[in-house]
Amino acid sequence: MTRLIPFLAALVLIGACNKDPLGDLEHIPYAPQPYSMPEMPYFFPEMEIPADNPQTVDGVALGRYLFYDPILSADSTIACASCHRQEYAFSNHLEVAVGIEGRLGTRNVPSLVNVGYMSKGLLWDGRRKSVETLVLHTIPDPVEMDFTVEGVVARLKNHPDYPERFRKAFGIKETGDISGELIGQAIAQFVRTLVSYQSKYDYANWDRGAETQFFSESELRGKLLFTTEPSIDPFSPHPGCSHCHNNTALLTTNEFLNNGINPALAPADFPDPGLGGITNKPIDYGRFKVPTLRNIEMTAPYMHDGRFKTLEEVLNHYSSGGHYSYNVDPNIIAFPMSEQDKQDLIAFLKSMTDEKFLQENAFGNPF
Ligand code: HEC
Ligand code: HEC
Repeated sequence: MTRLIPFLAALVLIGACNKDPLGDLEHIPYAPQPYSMPEMPYFFPEMEIPADNPQTVDGVALGRYLFYDPILSADSTIACASCHRQEYAFSNHLEVAVGIEGRLGTRNVPSLVNVGYMSKGLLWDGRRKSVETLVLHTIPDPVEMDFTVEGVVARLKNHPDYPERFRKAFGIKETGDISGELIGQAIAQFVRTLVSYQSKYDYANWDRGAETQFFSESELRGKLLFTTEPSIDPFSPHPGCSHCHNNTALLTTNEFLNNGINPALAPADFPDPGLGGITNKPIDYGRFKVPTLRNIEMTAPYMHDGRFKTLEEVLNHYSSGGHYSYNVDPNIIAFPMSEQDKQDLIAFLKSMTDEKFLQENAFGNPF
C-alpha cells in the first residue's frame, strides 16, 4: 500500500500535466465538411434544415454519440436510444415510454422516421418546433432523463473525448464553450439523417406505370382501398386513409386531427388534451399529430397511448367509424371491411417497411 501512494501521486501529476488547465482546443484542426444526405426520390419534398445548424460530417457524428450515450441522464442509465430503438424504427414495443428508474410516461414513443420532414411541430401535440429545443426539454423531463442541461454540460467538459468532438463539430475554442445549445444542435443534425425512402412502397412510387412489378395483387388492392376518397366515390363508404396519411413520400400531412379513438361531448372528456393542451381551443382537444405510416409494421403498439396492439385492431377501429366526439374529423366514417379487404390493407401497409433503414449502420450505436 505504501508503495502504491507515490505511484498514484505520479499518475495524478501526469494527468494534470496532460490536461490543458484552460481546456484550450485550438490546436485541434477544425475543418467542417458538409454532410451529404442521400439523394431522395423525386416525390420527396425539400427538408427544411435551420440555416444556423447546417449538417456537417463531424456534427452528425457527435450527435450520434450523444444520442446513444446514457451520460445525458441523471444516473447514466437512459439514452435517447433507450426509448428510440433502431430495430423498431426508432420507436419501441412498449405501450407508453419507460424512463429513468422505470418511471412511466403517458404517451407512446413515436418513431423518428423522417422526422426532418415534420414541418408542423413535433411530439404528438406539436408543442416543440425543432429537435434542437426538444432535446433541452427531454434531458430534465422527470419521466425521461431527469437531469439538468448544466449537469450534462459539466460531464461532457470533463470527458476524455467529447471536448475534441465538439471542437471538430462546431469549432469551439475551449472546453468551456460546450453548451446545451450545441448539444441540441448536434443531436438534431443526427436525427435529421434518419431518412427512410427505400421500401417496396417507394420503388413502386418511382414509376407508377410499373407498380405491378413491385406490388402483389393483394398489395395493389390494399393501395386502392387506402386511397379511395369521397372525391372518387362519393356514395359509398371508404377507408380513405390517404386523406390524412397522404399517399406520397411522407405518408402523413403532418396535420393535427381527431381520428375518433375517444368519445367526448366536451373538451374535458378527452383523457389527454392533445393539441388542445397547447392552444386551449375546444376544437383542438383530442387532436394529435397524424403519424407517418412508414415502417408501421415495426412500431406496434399504436396511437398516442399505445392502445392498439396490432394493425388489425387499428383497422377494426377505423372500419367501425370510431367514437363520436364533437370535433371528430368528418373523414372518420364507418366502412364495411371483408377479411380479404383487411388482409390487403395490411399487406399494403407492410410494403412501407424499409429494411435498409432498420439495418443502416450509420444510424446504429457508435460505441
Ligand atoms: C423515456 C423515453 C424517451 C427518451 C429517453 C427519449 N424520448 Fe424522444 N420521445 C419519447 C416520447 C414518449 C415521445 C412523445 C412524447 C409526446 O408526444 O409528448 C418522444 C418524442 C420525440 C420526438 C418527436 C417525434 C415526433 O414524431 O414528433 C423526437 C424528435 C424525439 N423524441 C427525440 C429524442 C431525443 C433526441 C432524445 C434524447 C435526447 C429522446 N427523444 C429521448 C420518449 C423518449
Ligand atoms: C381523419 C384523419 C385520419 C384518417 C382518415 C385515418 N387516420 Fe390513421 N391516424 C390519424 C391520427 C390523427 C392518428 C393518431 C391518433 C392518436 O394517436 O391519437 C392516426 C394513427 C394511425 C395509426 C397509428 C400510428 C402509430 O404510429 O401509432 C395507424 C396504423 C393508422 N392511423 C392507420 C390508418 C389507416 C390504415 C387508415 C384508413 C383505414 C387511417 N389511418 C385513416 C388520422 C387519420
